Amino acid sequence: MSNVKQRRGVLFVCLGNICRSPIAETVFQSLIEQRNLTDKWFCDSAATSSYHTGDLPDYRAIQVLKEHGLQTEHRARKLTKEDFNKFEWIFGMDESNISNIKRMSPSNSQAKIELLGSYDPEGQSIIEDPYYQGGIDGFIANYNQCLRCCQAFLDKMN
Ligand code: 4NP
Repeated sequence: MSNVKQRRGVLFVCLGNICRSPIAETVFQSLIEQRNLTDKWFCDSAATSSYHTGDLPDYRAIQVLKEHGLQTEHRARKLTKEDFNKFEWIFGMDESNISNIKRMSPSNSQAKIELLGSYDPEGQSIIEDPYYQGGIDGFIANYNQCLRCCQAFLDKMN
């Protein structure tokens, strides 16, 4: 008999996997480390497109994370069919992500597909695409939303 408990997986998904979802993944990872929950949870991030497959996160995402003492070496990858078995939750950032994730979902998938923003205590349910905004403000807003939502999610689940 093994008493190894299964860790619960959370996958963060956006369009390119270079802005919002790597921020969310890095924030979630830092929270589970701070809360000593790495034996209970694991996370990753992925894209609904292959536009940036293999790329590091956008320099503005890296900058915002760095300002909060966080780092990532994530490489963008596209969502796969296996992800729907591996992860208990798949979080999209906006409604377009959610419809793309659902379209890519195998018919027998048990994964819970939700807006990450549905956990926001401040009620901002959409985490907007910051890519074409030019500056860093959208990324700062994304970071703060991801932090609030990941904290609230973990508060609820643990
Ligand atoms: P993300 O942002 O979905 O938050 O990673 C985007 C990154 C790239 C593109 C769109 C959104 N793009 O069209 O290349």
